[in-house]
This record gives sequence, C-alpha cells and structure tokens, in this order.
Amino acid sequence: MPRLDDRIDAYLRNLREGDVFRVLKPGDPDGARLVRRGGRDLINFSSNNYLGLSQDPRLIERANEWTTKWGVGSGASRLVTGTFQVHAALEDKLAKLKGAESALIFTSGFQANSTILHAIFNRRVLKDDLLVFADTLIHASMHHGCRSAGVKPILYRHNDPAHLESLLRKHADKPGVRFILTESVFSMDGDRADLAELCDLADRFDAFLYVDEAHATGVLGPRGMGLAGDVPGRIDLVMGTFSKALGSLGGYAACSQAMKDYLINQCSGFIYSTALPPGVLGAIDAALDIVPGMEIERTRLIKNAEKLRAALRGHGIDTGGSSTQIVPALIGEVAATLAAGRILEDAGLLGIPIRPPTVPKGTSRLRFAVTAEHTGEDMDRLLKAVPEIAKLRRKSA
Ligand SMILES: Cc1ncc(COP(=O)(O)O)c(C=O)c1O
Repeated sequence: MPRLDDRIDAYLRNLREGDVFRVLKPGDPDGARLVRRGGRDLINFSSNNYLGLSQDPRLIERANEWTTKWGVGSGASRLVTGTFQVHAALEDKLAKLKGAESALIFTSGFQANSTILHAIFNRRVLKDDLLVFADTLIHASMHHGCRSAGVKPILYRHNDPAHLESLLRKHADKPGVRFILTESVFSMDGDRADLAELCDLADRFDAFLYVDEAHATGVLGPRGMGLAGDVPGRIDLVMGTFSKALGSLGGYAACSQAMKDYLINQCSGFIYSTALPPGVLGAIDAALDIVPGMEIERTRLIKNAEKLRAALRGHGIDTGGSSTQIVPALIGEVAATLAAGRILEDAGLLGIPIRPPTVPKGTSRLRFAVTAEHTGEDMDRLLKAVPEIAKLRRKSA
C-alpha cells in the first residue's frame, strides 16, 4: 500500500464502522423524472433538476448550437481568452432578471461561494477587521470561503433573526466590518430565510448581507428568479447557481458594477479557472429565456411539495420548516434513515438518505426534492410508501 494510504486507513475504517462512509452509486438519467440504477428505473425524488430543464429540448438545442459554433471548450480563463461576446449578453440578461446592476458567471456554485467570500473577506482591502455572522446551516461552500479567508464565523441559530440580533448586539462594541451570510432557501431543510428581516438587521447594525439563492433560482420569487427579488436593492451580494432548477452548470454573482470589477480583479476562483464551455453557456442562455415564463411548472412543483408534506406530517413525520420543493423527512438515526432509503428503493423510488456531516448529528433524513416533472401517479407511489417509513421511524425513535 502506498505510504500516504497508511495514514488515511484508520479514518476510513471509522467512517465505515459509523455507517457514514460515502460511496458513489452510478445511475443514468432516464428522462428528467427517472434514474436507472442497477438495471431498474427508479422515480427520482432526489434531483435538484426542479423544473426538468436538464432534459429540455430547448436547452439541448442551444447547447448543441453553441457547441457547434464555438467548440467544446473555452480554452482559457475569462481574463485570458475565455470571455466570448455571448458572456456580456448573458451576464446582462441575468442582471436584468435578478434586478441587479450587474452579474458575473462562475464555473460552479461551490467555486463562486468559496472564492467570492475569500475575495471579499480581505482585511487589507477593507482596512479593518471582520465580524462574520452566519446561519448555522449555511452550505459547505460558504464555510470553505470563510476558512480560506481565516474567518471563524459567529454562528446564529438556524433561521432565528432574534438570535442573530442578540449576537450583533453582543459584539456591537467590537471594531470591524460586519457581514451576515445566509441561504434564501436552505438546501437540506427546504425552509426560507426571512430576507426582509435580515435586511432590517443589516441596516440597523451596519452589516453587509450575502445571500445564496442556489435553491430559489428558477423556483421562487418574482418570475422565479429568486427571493432576493422580494427585497429589491437591499442585498449587497446575491449568488446563485445554474446547476439546479436551471438544469445545467455554473454559478453567478448578482451585484453592483463595482463589485463585479472587484471580483474580476481579486477573486482567485474566477481569475485562475477555465471559463465554462460554450455548450453550457448556451444551456444557461436558453434557461434564462424560458424560466421567467414557467409559472405553470412552478405551480405544479409547489403543489407536489405540499402534497408530500401533508402526507408526511399526517403520518407523524417531521418535515421541519419546509415550505418549498425541498421536503426533508426527518428520521433521526443513521441506520433507520438508511433503512428508509431501502424501503423506497424496493418501491421503485429514489430518496437519498442524508447523514452527518452533511446535516447535524441526530437529524439524518430522507431529503425529498420534488420536481415539476413528477406526475400525479409518481406522487401517489411516493405517498403509498410513507406509512412504511413512518412505522420504521416510530420503531427507531
Ligand atoms: C446552498 C448551495 N450553495 C451552493 C451550492 C454549490 O453549487 P454547485 O453545485 O453549482 O457547485 C450548492 C450545491 O449543492 C448548494 O446547495
């Protein structure tokens, strides 16, 4: 065994023994609602492809068209030769839809969060110390950005503005630039942040507000372009992704022109990484044309989620504060959650068990993500499996 493997061996053994060892399970998409695993079609209730756009012929056509025109790769980072004419048009289109002065596209949402935060948490530029207040459940990519900037966030209880306020007050005498970090829709809980209240707190305590719209983009807010649209002009920096409801890949920042200029000059993940390929840009372009008009799909999506929440709650399964297309079925212990996943799979359904460290200990869950593509029949099949899951949860409680 190579010597480095010796060093990680005990760690891997621990993960296996604790039922938290992650493995890749190949499954091929078979349309937007089905996934083919182990030779079987399962109805996919774990995909972030909320509007089914990953398989939409209009996106595929534009991706093909732009690939044929400009090739499969962008050839360089944006600052070298990786910026095409279409970038400017695409970023303008996105900025208008987000109600922002300007926008900047990144290769992924993870890259955007982790490197934007690193760029803005720069004591040399800000000429001051930093106090970063963050919701306990912010995404790993934001934690990564904090860590890489040497920032230890002051965590406030999940979706608890009163707790945030008490922490802002407690630290009021400390010098430093203040930031508040949140998601608008939380990825593992499907609940929403109260952005108006966070804006008020940011105003009162002179803090900058940073909001991740990865799971709201395409689904919620004015024309489905995110919840930041409900508090126009009040958020300092909004990021989001094209990788979930918008069906393809990439991240974005919606911000002022000055912030865009700053990121182009200071954000290492933007400067030193190859630009997205033309095909992906084509898919994003088509998605931005289509998504604002997808009200029928958004209504179906929300109705599907309501149906699932009602069934789970009716059987005594906690769905937390979910009010979106993401519906957690909180089970608790890891082993019972894995068993619940197997029950679903036996019924021809895919609902991936989510365990620590992705979620806090004792809150393992099935994270259901419903989509606009799920038919009434798909939903009925899922609802039929709910009593079995409830039985298992009761036994393990
Ligand atoms: C809240 C949140 N932010 C950022 C990301 C990263 O986005 P991407 O998958 O596009 O890298 C994710 C993805 O899981 C997410 O859930």
